[in-house]
Amino acid sequence: MNTPNTPNTSNATSRAAGGGTPGIVVGFIGGGNMASAIVGGLVAQGMPAADIRVVEPFAEARARLADAFGVEARETPSEDHLAACDLVVWAVKPQNLREAAAAAAPFARDALHLSIAAGIPGDSIVRWTGARRVVRAMPNTPALIGQGITGLFACTPLEADDRQKIERVLAATGECLWVEREALLDAVTALSGSGPAYVFYFLEAMVASGIAMGLAPAQARQLAIRTFSGASALAAASADPLPELRARVTSKGGTTHAAIAVLEAEGMQQRFGKALEAARQRAQTMAAEFGRD
Ligand SMILES: NC(=O)c1ccc[n+]([C@@H]2O[C@H](COP(=O)([O-])OP(=O)(O)OC[C@H]3O[C@@H](n4cnc5c(N)ncnc54)[C@H](OP(=O)(O)O)[C@@H]3O)[C@@H](O)[C@H]2O)c1
Repeated sequence: MNTPNTPNTSNATSRAAGGGTPGIVVGFIGGGNMASAIVGGLVAQGMPAADIRVVEPFAEARARLADAFGVEARETPSEDHLAACDLVVWAVKPQNLREAAAAAAPFARDALHLSIAAGIPGDSIVRWTGARRVVRAMPNTPALIGQGITGLFACTPLEADDRQKIERVLAATGECLWVEREALLDAVTALSGSGPAYVFYFLEAMVASGIAMGLAPAQARQLAIRTFSGASALAAASADPLPELRARVTSKGGTTHAAIAVLEAEGMQQRFGKALEAARQRAQTMAAEFGRD
């Protein structure tokens, strides 16, 4: 995808400490959507294209990376391309990771390894790559415009310096946070990995309701999207609990109160909980499917 990346301007604490370029050589196995998002962000931050190495079998994707970011992508992995990498990012679909690791990992075993492949357990990645330092990540699609959030889990013991390298690279895509147990990555998948789709779903419902009440489709879309981004920004800027923020715009007997009463009567929070639990269980099943030997 050729979505442009925006340089990071936020000073949120979970962004990379210090900012600037990571100052390391980063290899990407797989040059699709997620890899392009990270590469684009790194280049926008001033990282030299020569410090980025990509392996990507699809010629069109290689050409896109070269055109958009001046990065050299090769069809197959090789020692001269990958041995200099301090960090290798596994950005292939889960079903391709094992095969990709067999071909590329021998050239970069000493590197720090970061897998963004959904659902592949850390012990499988360690086994397939033979690497000693492995991190699993669950990003989400707003990464494509530098507005993502990524959950991270250290699958092996890591020095603080390794954590910082990962954070500096992912700062190109937005914020990140570490979780202490691998199982929590399934919760991250259910909440923020799949989350953008819930937001789109909610927006669709708001737009459809606006149109049903007589607004033009473009007006309904603008009102819904701006309401979502504005309310999210308000919540991000406030230390107050979410129920309190909601209570502040819900005067008793008013319009918002009428709407929230219907959502409560319909059990929306419980339904939402069920939906996220279904996503979490699916992530667990996928881990069992794809992580098999
Ligand atoms: N997109 C998201 O929202 C999102 C969110 C969270 C996590 N993830 C995870 O991130 C990973 C990458 O997702 P994506 O959306 O970037 O996928 P993608 O666009 O399909 O990119 C994967 C790329 O890897 C290439 N590839 C396949 N086998 C390879 C091999 N053996 N060696 C090198 N490259 C190979 C593919 O080439 P071909 O097309 O020729 O096969 C493709 O270009 C997935 O595991 C996904 O689950 C994605």
